[in-house]
Amino acid sequence: MLNIGIVLGSTREGRVSPQVGAWVKELADNRGDANYEIIDIADYSLPLLGEPDGDASGVAAWSEKIAEMDGFVFIVQEYNHSISAALKNALDYLRVEWNDKAAGIVSYGSVGGARATEHLRGILSELSIAHVRVHPALSLFTDFENGTHFAPKDVQVQSVNDMLDQLLPWTEAMQSVRTKSTSETA
Ligand SMILES: Cc1cc2nc3c(=O)[nH]c(=O)nc-3n(C[C@H](O)[C@H](O)[C@H](O)COP(=O)(O)O)c2cc1C
Repeated sequence: MLNIGIVLGSTREGRVSPQVGAWVKELADNRGDANYEIIDIADYSLPLLGEPDGDASGVAAWSEKIAEMDGFVFIVQEYNHSISAALKNALDYLRVEWNDKAAGIVSYGSVGGARATEHLRGILSELSIAHVRVHPALSLFTDFENGTHFAPKDVQVQSVNDMLDQLLPWTEAMQSVRTKSTSETA
């Protein structure tokens, strides 16, 4: 079975990403088509990349966890029309661990996190992560109560499944790309 990491992009106190990630995981688990796992950046205490006095003890575990995965669903929140600094930092830490894998994006914000998603797509391209087109975009106004309690509209369930329908075959296909790159460099 393929391993798909559901990456929570925010780490701030009071964040809503765990609610969104748990909902995506439940929908994904119901499909029974892969091993889905929540990956919480906050668990790895990553200092800012290159910070001289930072405690980098979580970096090896972060690298190992991402290397174990075949594909990803990024849970993306919009911060100043882009992704969170925590997610950008966590992406910047690694390279080969991300390369030649596939990803889907589930975002939220006042306009569904659309602007953050477009920024993330550019970053994923640079990391050689194949990102699928279908993109569940959750509104802070209609899929949350008071912007804090997650209460998604029913239509979003179909959108998550449509995204996973694209992600699974792409994740499988990228396995053969990785096998080919490994054998070429051996
Ligand atoms: C620093 C900051 C900047 C934000 N900028 C935007 C923004 O540009 N567009 C938007 O739609 N929401 C913006 N928001 C609202 C967040 O998308 C919203 O608070 C969301 O819940 C953040 O995700 P989190 O709870 O998982 O941290 C911003 C929130 C913060 C904390």
